Amino acid sequence: MLNLIPPKWRRALEILRWRGPGHFFLLALREVLRPVMYWYAWNIYLTDLQQPLTAPYAKRKFDVRIFNGDQDRETARTQLGCLGEPLPANFDARINRGDALAIIYSGTEPVASGWMTFTSGMEMAYGLTWILQPNEGTQYGSFVLPKWRGQGVFSLLNVALNTYAREHGVLRSVGSISVLNSQSLSMAKRLGKKKLMTVILLRIRGLGWTFRKAIGSSLDTRFASPGVHLPRAERVQLRLGQKS
Ligand SMILES: CC(C)(COP(=O)(O)OP(=O)(O)OC[C@H]1O[C@@H](n2cnc3c(N)ncnc32)[C@H](O)[C@@H]1OP(=O)(O)O)[C@@H](O)C(=O)NCCC(=O)NCCS
Repeated sequence: MLNLIPPKWRRALEILRWRGPGHFFLLALREVLRPVMYWYAWNIYLTDLQQPLTAPYAKRKFDVRIFNGDQDRETARTQLGCLGEPLPANFDARINRGDALAIIYSGTEPVASGWMTFTSGMEMAYGLTWILQPNEGTQYGSFVLPKWRGQGVFSLLNVALNTYAREHGVLRSVGSISVLNSQSLSMAKRLGKKKLMTVILLRIRGLGWTFRKAIGSSLDTRFASPGVHLPRAERVQLRLGQKS
């Protein structure tokens, strides 16, 4: 029955159910206004990898595999393909710059994926890019297959990438979660993440004008804007992918 519903509608129903009518309304309004203006608001979180990590809360046993580097490129491509989602357009660029890919398995079935980059310059939106200090990483692109949601898999993804990063000399990880994504915010809350700031981006399309603002800390401590000099962090050299 659920398979007869187009994916867009399924997603809308999921948002309505798990994020509530208030968030649903704001997300719908944003889509309606898209031709004129668009906006993002993210909470930025910090995890100190020198401190013990809070344990993940997955409701059953899953396995994690981390892929990194040229030697893992083709396996990572195949495994991501098995998730049934389109491969990211910049998949090769991600591997080339040394990003780590975590895939979560139930038995042999891939159920979720997520990335971590260790290099400054990854774009959030409208030219706003991450500044990472040496020995920092940022997680992005987390995705859990719909039928596996609500089982704490996201916490496993987060802890697996942070553990991997720590084992390879990374001291802090930072991450962004949309303030309207209460499904993701739940993980940050349950794992006790420290909120650094909230970043707001507003784009007026016709005028090509973008408003950028951070609340809680200065925007330029973590992000570079178009035309502003971007300090390049040294790339962390990571070792081969392995099961953890
Ligand atoms: C956001 C996402 C990664 C969370 O993954 P997850 O493994 O389902 O996370 P959890 O199991 O911790 O559940 C998180 C919340 O989802 C909601 N949830 C519970 N069961 C659910 C289900 N069957 N389906 C969808 N959402 C559900 C609940 O609000 C839950 O919070 P709670 O445990 O405090 O009640 C996943 O929903 C997803 O892939 N969404 C699409 C991609 C996305 O938004 N990525 C952004 C990552 S920042």
